[in-house]
Amino acid sequence: MKRDTYILAIETSCDETSMSIIKNGETEVATVVLSQIDIHKNFGGVVPEIASRNHIENITIVLEELLSKASMKIEEITAIGVTYGPGLIGSLLIGVEAAKTISLVTGKPLIPVHHIAGHIYANNLEKRLTFPLIALVVSGGHTELIYMKEDYSFQKIGGTLDDAIGECYDKVAKVIGLEYPGGPKVDKLAHQGNDTYNLPYPLDDKSYNFSFSGIKSAVINLVHNENQRENKINIEDLCTTFQNRVVTVLTKKTMRALKEYNVKNLIVAGGVSANSGLREKLAEECRKEKINLSFPRLNYCTDNAAMIGAAAFFAYKKGIISDLSLNAVATDNLYR
Ligand code: KG4
Ligand code: ZN
Repeated sequence: MKRDTYILAIETSCDETSMSIIKNGETEVATVVLSQIDIHKNFGGVVPEIASRNHIENITIVLEELLSKASMKIEEITAIGVTYGPGLIGSLLIGVEAAKTISLVTGKPLIPVHHIAGHIYANNLEKRLTFPLIALVVSGGHTELIYMKEDYSFQKIGGTLDDAIGECYDKVAKVIGLEYPGGPKVDKLAHQGNDTYNLPYPLDDKSYNFSFSGIKSAVINLVHNENQRENKINIEDLCTTFQNRVVTVLTKKTMRALKEYNVKNLIVAGGVSANSGLREKLAEECRKEKINLSFPRLNYCTDNAAMIGAAAFFAYKKGIISDLSLNAVATDNLYR
């Protein structure tokens, strides 16, 4: 009988201290996510130094809570998976050092996981990925279209030339006075207004690239000009218009990629995959085109260690193992 593989996964790339135990890359045994949002929202965004200090304070507490929740001993783990990048370097380092320490003490293998591979494999916790597939990765730091011909094979076919979509949502939210992280709040308001404002479609061209700095500046200028003229801004209408523009372009380019690459499976990944406008529009188009569409469950859209545990299993199967010289990297385009 084949033995089960239990991955202890660690994710500390931004402001969530999270650990999880995942069985065979698809079943969650237990997960703990300790969010620092309440601390950072006082500053209007994540403060890297504060995030890293909080990870130090939280990491052993999270580990103890996880093992007790899973009713498992650390010796029962097969391997340790950890996000090595990209992300905030001071935050990543805490997770990487913790993983290396556990690996050293237990003698279990250490598996480095790219944060975006994690977001993609959050979908494997819903149902087994079917290949070939296109992944639309939409998060606070990434906006990419990725072609996967098989497990743990990532071919980037397009990406943002400037801001990430989540970053753009958060900036738009900030300029209209919504608290960090503003993405979900803009999404909610977008369902309460009408598409009345004159905003551009961001990089609506034949490429697979994205650009959100133009629409971000357009919103900032619009708010600025209306304030100067002492005109009241209809926040709901502005959110509706903004969401319509970005969702239209994201959907259009994704559907074109599916067609041109002759792929019938689409998965969406990253924090912005929680966006209801994007979910609705993609579902509608995929129904028409008979594409199998998958989203992570809502609490696995944003950062968590469960997704890292799922990805680590497939990295492990490919022999991706690191020694104790593993280091955190803030920016890394290579999917290891
Ligand atoms: O994946 P994630 O947790 O962190 C990164 O790896 O970047 O994504 C966080 C981003 C934030 O920008 C947040 O505002 C955005 O995801 N987000 C949303 C929604 N939920 C989270 N943006 C739009 N609509 C949402 N419902
Ligand atoms: Zn993320």
